[in-house]
Amino acid sequence: MTAARVALCGVSKAFGGVVAVDAVNLELTAGEVLGLLGHNGAGKSTLVKMLSGADPCDRGEIRIDDQPVSIRTPRDARRLGIETIYQDLALADNLPVPANVFLGRERTTRFGRLDEAAMERATRDVLERLNPALSDLHRPVGQLSGGQRQSVAIARALLFEARVLIMDEPTAALGPQETGQVAEQIERLKGEGIAILLVSHDLHDVFDLSDRIAVLKNGRLVGHGPREALSRERVLEMIIAGSVVGGDLPPR
Ligand SMILES: Nc1ncnc2c1ncn2[C@@H]1O[C@H](COP(=O)(O)OP(=O)(O)O)[C@@H](O)[C@H]1O
Ligand SMILES: [Mg+2]
Repeated sequence: MTAARVALCGVSKAFGGVVAVDAVNLELTAGEVLGLLGHNGAGKSTLVKMLSGADPCDRGEIRIDDQPVSIRTPRDARRLGIETIYQDLALADNLPVPANVFLGRERTTRFGRLDEAAMERATRDVLERLNPALSDLHRPVGQLSGGQRQSVAIARALLFEARVLIMDEPTAALGPQETGQVAEQIERLKGEGIAILLVSHDLHDVFDLSDRIAVLKNGRLVGHGPREALSRERVLEMIIAGSVVGGDLPPR
């Protein structure tokens, strides 16, 4: 059996008296999409921040490829190959695609100048894998469609050799066609063996895109399983009630 790419072992985080994430155990395997669902306030963002280093956990352990790791800062996370795409994508709308892909991690020549040519080449290579239709790299990203902007954000993660990709509400602002594009891109990333944590409050997107589903409520993991073993109704019950009412209901 192969070790999980990421294992959360009893991780907890409290803010004052509020336990935002409460002793959660969760594993994420290479090449799979784990959909993380839950209402507002369930603890999804807090869990993401523990993994991305934005807000480290108080208790518990995080293991990568079966090695305990310390994730205290975003730098730690990136060094471990954990990349996070936040809901707002954090793109600079007035800058072209390569400048966005390399934002904050620019390549320079040995004379200390920005190496625009190298950045453009690398950006083109990555986008060819991801979204070949996006070929005009010189347009400011503010002029791109929602799906193309999502590609730019994913390209940024891929370029830095993400092994774990966290996507926060990747389809929230997209139409059906663009959601389809994101689904295709997620398939490609899975094919490259990247482990993907897909965080969403949208049950339907999670059902369409995930291999496994986990549900948080009040900071606790109230249920998880392979998608094919779960019905939408059951997952909705977990989200709302925190458990499956009446015990082990037959699949509907
Ligand atoms: N920085 C913070 N300070 C105080 N409370 C917080 C903070 N971040 C989150 N919380 C609380 O933790 C709980 C979980 O929040 P969050 O992780 O944002 O949930 P979700 O992303 O699922 O909506 C909520 O009760 C929220 O109010
Ligand atoms: Mg949130």
